[in-house]
Amino acid sequence: MSTILVTGGTGTLGRPVVERLRQAGHPVRVLSRHPHPEDRSAFAVDLRRGTGLTRALHGVDTVVHCASTPTGGDITAATHLIRALRRAEVAHVVYISIVGVDRIPLGYYRTKHTVERALEASGLGWTVLRATQFHDLLVRLFQATARLPLMPVPDVDVQPVDTDEVASRLALLAQEPPAGRVADMCGPRVESLRELAGVYLDRTGTRRTTVPVRVPGTTFAAFRAGHHLAPDRAVGRVTFAEFLDRHPIE
Ligand SMILES: NC(=O)c1ccc[n+]([C@@H]2O[C@H](COP(=O)([O-])OP(=O)(O)OC[C@H]3O[C@@H](n4cnc5c(N)ncnc54)[C@H](OP(=O)(O)O)[C@@H]3O)[C@@H](O)[C@H]2O)c1
Repeated sequence: MSTILVTGGTGTLGRPVVERLRQAGHPVRVLSRHPHPEDRSAFAVDLRRGTGLTRALHGVDTVVHCASTPTGGDITAATHLIRALRRAEVAHVVYISIVGVDRIPLGYYRTKHTVERALEASGLGWTVLRATQFHDLLVRLFQATARLPLMPVPDVDVQPVDTDEVASRLALLAQEPPAGRVADMCGPRVESLRELAGVYLDRTGTRRTTVPVRVPGTTFAAFRAGHHLAPDRAVGRVTFAEFLDRHPIE
């Protein structure tokens, strides 16, 4: 059995990854910024600082890198991580990225693409999986916008995927040899965000009028062009409606 460390192992995606790897019998360490003194497998490290990484990585065979701070610092974090992985002679790093990071000029996506390239050039054994937006992310978006009396919804299509399905795939990849960039993982359907907002309002019993919004600029033009979608990789099974049925929202 390999010792596997999951960065961001307390997050939406990281938690089910940790669960699946433990179910498969691997000793798993969890890295995040916040200490969990009751848990001996938890390591509190802010990757943007890197302090404590050497101890966390000692004896680790594989790292699944799920940690991310969308407000900034992921490139610095990846630089610290790659340096420490080389020092610790970790054989394999698996990274979760997003479909379209190389085609959509959103700052966060550019950052993720830079991290992908840093891993490719690192000399480490690496695997990169790109996925589309998680159902959870749409829920958070709709929760925020439904607070407004009129609910604004950008006129874009999405292909959301189930986090648990992505976690299962990442966990499998972590147990296999480095594979480079693997086939994208996307949800079962391309649907308009407005349609899905309707599903959310219906399932949560919220009465709101949705207002289509055409966001100006190159980033949303790229989203409207569908550069974040991969209909030929619609391998996820759980639709957004099924996700809401399985995870009812108060
Ligand atoms: N959400 C989506 O729709 C989606 C789609 C495709 C790919 N992804 C990718 O999947 C990954 C996980 O996303 P998620 O939605 O699960 O994120 P999340 O729920 O926000 O979890 C982020 C995790 O990273 C940890 N973290 C954040 N900054 C850190 C730092 N500087 N040092 C150490 N740990 C740090 C957090 O724990 P602490 O707060 O305790 O530090 C948490 O465990 C990200 O790389 C994201 O880009 C997401």
